[in-house]
Amino acid sequence: MRSALVLAALLAGPASAIYVPLHEYAGSTFFDGWDFWGNVDNTTWGNVTYLDRAGATAQRLAYVNSAGNAIIKVDNTTNIALAPLVNRPSVRHILRAYSTITHAVAPQVRLTSKESYGVGTLWLIDVVHMPYGCSVWPSFWTLGTGKEWPGAGEIDIIEGINLMSHNQMALHATAGCAQAASAAQGQSGTTLEGDCSLDRGCIVAENKPNSFGVGFANAGGGVWAVQMDVSGVFIWFWSRPQVPDIIRTATSKTNIDTTAFGLPSAAYPAASGCNITQYFGPQQFVLLTTLCGSWAGVPNIYSSTCPGQCVSDNVIGPGSPKYDTAYWEIPYIRTYIADNLAPPAASLVPSSSSTRNVPTPSASATGGNGTAPGSSDGKNAAKAISATGGAMLIGILGTLVGTFV
Ligand SMILES: *[C@@H]1O[C@H](CO)[C@@H](O)[C@H](O)[C@H]1NC(C)=O
Ligand SMILES: *[C@@H]1O[C@H](CO)[C@@H](O)[C@H](O)[C@H]1NC(C)=O
Ligand SMILES: *[C@@H]1O[C@H](CO)[C@@H](O)[C@H](O)[C@H]1NC(C)=O
Ligand SMILES: *[C@@H]1O[C@H](CO)[C@@H](O)[C@H](O)[C@H]1NC(C)=O
Ligand SMILES: *[C@@H]1O[C@H](CO)[C@@H](O)[C@H](O)[C@H]1NC(C)=O
Repeated sequence: MRSALVLAALLAGPASAIYVPLHEYAGSTFFDGWDFWGNVDNTTWGNVTYLDRAGATAQRLAYVNSAGNAIIKVDNTTNIALAPLVNRPSVRHILRAYSTITHAVAPQVRLTSKESYGVGTLWLIDVVHMPYGCSVWPSFWTLGTGKEWPGAGEIDIIEGINLMSHNQMALHATAGCAQAASAAQGQSGTTLEGDCSLDRGCIVAENKPNSFGVGFANAGGGVWAVQMDVSGVFIWFWSRPQVPDIIRTATSKTNIDTTAFGLPSAAYPAASGCNITQYFGPQQFVLLTTLCGSWAGVPNIYSSTCPGQCVSDNVIGPGSPKYDTAYWEIPYIRTYIADNLAPPAASLVPSSSSTRNVPTPSASATGGNGTAPGSSDGKNAAKAISATGGAMLIGILGTLVGTFV
C-alpha cells in the first residue's frame, strides 16, 4: 500500500532516463530540413508576410552568423507606408526533420518523408537571443501531425508578447486532456489554466528569472528541455548561468541523462491528467515571429506593457530601431530518444517485408509517426510506438517496485 502511494507520487513526475542523440539542427546546416512558410499570417493574424526560403535568404532574415548560430529575424530595413493592409516581412519555419537513420540506406526516403518526434523523445533548444519589443510575438512550439488541430496536440515551449518579462508554456489538445491537479507540486512555474482543450490551452507561467525578452538576452539566453514521455510532457528552462553541466558540456554526440535536471518549470503528468499517448501524435517544430495579431495586438493587452497603438506605432514606418531586437539567435536544437527505445545499430536497415507487419524500432527511433519507410500501414506502426512506450513504463515500474517493495 505504502509502496503503491510512493509509486503513484513518483509517476506523476518526469521519469529520469538516458537519451541518445537523434539529430542536431545547428550551424551551416541549420536551415536544411525546415520548410519556410511563404504566406501571410493566416493563423494568428499578425501584420507580417512570411517569406519563402529564397526571399528570407535574399533579405538576410534567415542566415548563420559568424559565431555559427542561426539568425531568424523580422525585417528592420524596410520603411513601411500606411496602407489598407500592412504587413512586414518575417520568417516562419516548420521543421521537416529528415530521418538520420533511414536516409542512410534509402536516400529517396529523404525527399519525401516528413519526420516528427513522438513519445519517448527529448528535445533541447539552446537560444542566445529571442525577439522582443512592442508588437513582437515570438514563439517556438510543436504541432501534432496526422490529425486536424488540435487532434494530435500542440506543445508551446517558448511564447510571449510585447514587453512581457516571463515565458509562457502550454499544451493544446482535445477535450479530456487537462493538467493534473498534482502537477502544482511537481513544477516550479504557476498554472494559469488547467484545461488543455480551451482556446488558450493549459498555461503555465515561468517563475525563474530572465526567461523572456531583454532580461533573457542580457543573461546570455538559456536552454529549454522538453521530455515527451508516456508518463507526461515536462518542460525545463535554465537561464544561461544555471544550464546544467550535462547540457553545457555536451556535444551533438553526447548522451543526455535527465537525472540532474531537477524540478521542471511545467509538468503535464499523464496520470490523472492527460494521457499523452492518446492525445499527442508525433510533433513537428514550428519557429516564428509575428507582429501584433490575435494576442500581442489586442488593444487592452497591448496597452498593458506598450504605448500607442500596435500597428500604427510599430509596424508602420522605419524598421529600425524598433525591430533591431526582433531576432532569434539559436546555437542548436537537438533531439534524442530514450536509450531503451533506441535501435541497436544492426537493426537499422529496414526491410520492406518486415517493416510492414512488424514495425522495427527504427520507426520510433527516427521519431517518426511510426510509418516505416516503404510501408503504407501507419496503424501497426502507431501500435509499435505505444507498445514501446508501454514497455518503458513497465521498465520504470519494475525498477521502482524493486526499490520500494
Ligand atoms: C493558411 O494558408 C495556407 C496556405 O495557403 C493554407 O494551406 C491553410 O489552410 C490556411 N489556413 C487557414 C487557417 O486559413
Ligand atoms: C493587420 O493585419 C490584420 C490581419 O490581416 C488586418 O485585419 C489589419 O487590417 C492589419 N492592419 C493594418 C493597419 O493593415
Ligand atoms: C506518416 O508519415 C507518412 C510518411 O510521410 C505519411 O504518408 C502519413 O500520412 C503520416 N501519417 C500520419 C498519421 O501522420
Ligand atoms: C492511454 O492511451 C493509450 C492510447 O490510446 C491507451 O492504450 C492507454 O491504455 C491509455 N492509458 C490509460 C492509463 O488510460
Ligand atoms: C537591424 O537590426 C540589426 C540587429 O538585429 C542591426 O545590426 C542593424 O543595424 C539594423 N538595421 C538597420 C538598417 O538599422
